[in-house]
Amino acid sequence: METASITAAAVEQAAADLAPYLRPTPLQFSRAFTAKTRCEVHLKLEGVQPIRAFKVRGALNKVIGMTAEERAHGVITASAGNHGQGVAYAALTFGIPATVYVPLNANQLKVESIKRMGARVVAHGRSYQEAFLEAQRNQGGATFVHAYDDARVIAGQGTLAVELLADLPAFDTVIVPIGGGGLIAGVAGYLKEKTPGVKVVGVEPAGAAGMKRSLEAGQLVTLERVQTIADGLAASRPGILTFEIAQRCVDEVVLVEEAEMLRAIRLYFEWEHLLAEPAGAAALAALLYRYAPAPGERVVVILSGANITDEVMLRALKSR
Ligand SMILES: Cc1ncc(COP(=O)(O)O)c(C=O)c1O
Repeated sequence: METASITAAAVEQAAADLAPYLRPTPLQFSRAFTAKTRCEVHLKLEGVQPIRAFKVRGALNKVIGMTAEERAHGVITASAGNHGQGVAYAALTFGIPATVYVPLNANQLKVESIKRMGARVVAHGRSYQEAFLEAQRNQGGATFVHAYDDARVIAGQGTLAVELLADLPAFDTVIVPIGGGGLIAGVAGYLKEKTPGVKVVGVEPAGAAGMKRSLEAGQLVTLERVQTIADGLAASRPGILTFEIAQRCVDEVVLVEEAEMLRAIRLYFEWEHLLAEPAGAAALAALLYRYAPAPGERVVVILSGANITDEVMLRALKSR
């Protein structure tokens, strides 16, 4: 895979290509979180995307890049849920067939949404990795849309950063959740080329710290066990391409506890009256509990998704 293709120009091209299909998401100043943290907090609201998560950016950018012949053979993918929704949405947009492999324990809200968009869903295995291997075995003539380790998917996710600079040309720090690393690779790759002074802070759950461990080791580390309520961040290791970009472009990775994500979901609901799923609230949890900003530091927090089940929401509302 060509690492050179993850350039600011590729991300800006993706932004232009996505413009007819997706509206930019809001970047909202938060008075409440600013008062709480004493830095200047801006929230990037990916929960208002049509699939309630940023993942539609990369999936659409991948399908836009396919030839007519490739499109005729459809797309296939494996996903914990949100990427599957993104692929289903992109396939529906272009009228092509889609198959999505999900682990047996996938969030049913996401699975139902994938089915509603007309994609075929196959539940297989106990983890994303098992679903992924099964999807690869059954690829046939379809194009595989990797959830993160793909140059076009990464460039698509990076379009979020194009919108950030358009809305807020100067800021100090962006906090980004990490699963396989597609979002942070796109965002960090773009920002380090356009505004090298911006600090990129990644966030992982303590129970799924594959990127942090890999960065510390200087090579890809596969976790033996992954345990987190944040299904979108439950990757056992980063991608090859995303890791390489993270090594060059990510300044620091912090870890958050499960209870901290639940508390962040509750505060986001109480103070902003908005929803975040655990992966979507991880960056906010990092700001509240694990990252110490300087007074007045201009911090952008990516609220990456809102597909929370009522069961997890109830747990969050009871958390203190
Ligand atoms: C809501 C949400 N946030 C963050 C991520 C992490 O994205 P990536 O795998 O590109 O690191 C995901 C991945 O599924 C997600 O669904």
